[in-house]
Amino acid sequence: MRKNIVAGNWKMNTTLQEGVALAKAVNEALKGVEPKCDVIIAAPFTHLASINGVIDQNKLGLGAENCADHKSGAYTGEVSASMVASTGATYVILGHSERRQYYGETSATLKEKVGLALANNLTPIFCIGEVLEQRENGTYLEVVKTQIEEALFDLSAEDFSKIILAYEPVWAIGTGKTATDDQAEEMHAFIRDVIAKKYGNEVAENTSILYGGSCKPTNAKALFAKPNVDGGLIGGASLDAESFMGIVTAF
Ligand code: 13P
Repeated sequence: MRKNIVAGNWKMNTTLQEGVALAKAVNEALKGVEPKCDVIIAAPFTHLASINGVIDQNKLGLGAENCADHKSGAYTGEVSASMVASTGATYVILGHSERRQYYGETSATLKEKVGLALANNLTPIFCIGEVLEQRENGTYLEVVKTQIEEALFDLSAEDFSKIILAYEPVWAIGTGKTATDDQAEEMHAFIRDVIAKKYGNEVAENTSILYGGSCKPTNAKALFAKPNVDGGLIGGASLDAESFMGIVTAF
């Protein structure tokens, strides 16, 4: 059966020292509980190796927020999937809407990134989601379907089974405006159906689909109660150990 997962996406927040302290605090908080979900934190590249040294990865997974679309070479400033893996991180967020919006990431570049992540044994947390205009003009299901098809549907069933999906409606990210649990469920059920049509029911049933966008301790329970919502990708509320744990324990 598919896993429930709560993952934090720290984005471009925390200094190295603050990030290590936050990771330690989450790691410490997890010692006292048996969460009903996997817990992951995705942190800036600069923090990964240090965080790896202070957490128990049996209880707290570690991921990057991006990786390069090339293997290695003359790409000044880029960080490759193999570099990420060499820090001890085992997950990587790919296709976040902020990367698509501000850094011009396309399905073509994301396809490369997914392939490189998998080749380096990193589990991609692949983000999809519509902007407000697409929600309002009713094309949101089609938009998300296309994002999945273009970047992921050349994968074998075996490789697709390694992917975690995160549905993040762009209009709900950092806005305090959450999708309702019914809106999330509609999309998640649709996504599972799209996967089932391509890879069959078993793969679809085993794919974890997380919700992201202003998820907080106060709304996590209702969202996670929906049958097709398998957890959350958490931005702002993951920057405080207590509020992050409030979401982890919502399962
Ligand atoms: P917020 O939780 O801050 O809305 O961010 C969601 C997100 O983008 C996680 O990747």
